Amino acid sequence: MVSRVIPVDPFDLVIFGGTGDLARRKILPALFRRYVAGQMGETSRIVGAARSEMDDAAYRDFVRDAVMEFDPPQGEAATQLDGFLEQVGYVTLDATGHGGWAELAARLKDKRAVQAFYFSVGPSLFGALAERLHQHGMAGEGTRIVVEKPFGRDEESARKLNATLAEHFDEGQIYRIDHYLGKETVQNLMAVRFGNMLFEPLWNAQYVDHIQITVAETVGVGGRGEYYDKSGAMRDMLQNHMMQLLCLIAMEPPAKFDPDAVRDEKLKVIRALDEVKPEDVVRGQYEAEDGKADYRTQVENKASTTESFVALKLHISNWRWAGTPFYLRTGKRLRAKVSEIAVVFKETPHSIFGAEAGRHRNILTIRLQPNEGMDLGVTIKEPGPGGMRLVDVPLDMTFADALGPDAEDVPDAYERLIMDVIRGNQTLFMRGDEVEAAWAWTDPIIAGWEARGDEPEPYETGSSGPEEALALMHRDGRRWRDIRA
Ligand code: BG6
Repeated sequence: MVSRVIPVDPFDLVIFGGTGDLARRKILPALFRRYVAGQMGETSRIVGAARSEMDDAAYRDFVRDAVMEFDPPQGEAATQLDGFLEQVGYVTLDATGHGGWAELAARLKDKRAVQAFYFSVGPSLFGALAERLHQHGMAGEGTRIVVEKPFGRDEESARKLNATLAEHFDEGQIYRIDHYLGKETVQNLMAVRFGNMLFEPLWNAQYVDHIQITVAETVGVGGRGEYYDKSGAMRDMLQNHMMQLLCLIAMEPPAKFDPDAVRDEKLKVIRALDEVKPEDVVRGQYEAEDGKADYRTQVENKASTTESFVALKLHISNWRWAGTPFYLRTGKRLRAKVSEIAVVFKETPHSIFGAEAGRHRNILTIRLQPNEGMDLGVTIKEPGPGGMRLVDVPLDMTFADALGPDAEDVPDAYERLIMDVIRGNQTLFMRGDEVEAAWAWTDPIIAGWEARGDEPEPYETGSSGPEEALALMHRDGRRWRDIRA
């Protein structure tokens, strides 16, 4: 199998917040990888824009350092860094004032086929940036803007942000990033579901006992305490990344793989979510261990009640899923970095092999990271004499083994998503109504624990989260899958 690089039109990409953490860690290394892959074209330009006083040469050094630190090129690619940097420039800019805007406009006068502006800044600046782009003649019909999460912190603020952006841009020009949608295996969810005959007929409440989605991390909040403490796991992970996974796993088949067809189906899932009962939510906060600080030591508020872990049970009230619970959990400082979705089918209705053979069930596990792949637990006969003893074994497929070395060379989420912006494909981006609906479902859950003054449950670093999260499933006669890499 040979990875194909589909050429894109020459583009101008302006990164507001061009000296920020996201630009260093993700956006700039991703662009360099696309350059190496031959997708950037010789005439495309990248312009960093931020408050710092810097000239083009200094910014190129900054970009070089970022690439070398976060995604150092190997072999032949290393010789291409200088060529890439020639296509990079910088403008010192005051997002809320007027400084630098005329210069930016002058630089972009000789327009490339596509012009995109990446708002890699806090949402409080979105409005100002949109307005300045408009005033300085850079908000034309062909312009695209890319906005990062957090997209608001509740439904009201998300609505306001949408309204602000809508003053200057059409929905078709706005690319709201959720980097989970750019992950190769997340797209594989759709391929598995809608590219096979095998699963779809069983994909419903009649055959599925429950679905569990885990996104576990080993890292703590690190240097992001200030942002994180205002968000918590619910706003940082569940409202967006996990909600997207839920939508892809639960939605009806879209008529085609096209932006609005897919997003319409996702929206229907979110709108069909039941309100979550307080007893179906567990929040946790990690404790100190092995010289690692506890959560409260890492944030400013030493009495913080923000959760670094959340687990909940939800129901989707529609024909396909009525009665099937979905269990979601995510947290930091857990035992391993694992993201997976497990579709747990119902037990066989009757055992022809007698009571001692037991009743068995199939579990389809889709591993998003690491070790991307899927396995299907099937029941077979245990070898040897002694009657029909049954055993469950995995039909295991690691994508890298099945697809060969090229599977390891797939673009990362940011590479794919930025190229989709240039291509003008919004399928993997969130629509405004989707984000608002996700907040509308999340808000009452958060308001509930705030009103009750709930304290998060402490959990050990390196564990599976608080005991109460295990109990959330045990009391339904079910159990979480182990968190292990
Ligand atoms: C980000 C969150 O959106 O996703 C982080 O803000 C989290 O807190 C990260 O660590 C996880 O992303 P990934 O790709 O490492 O699973």
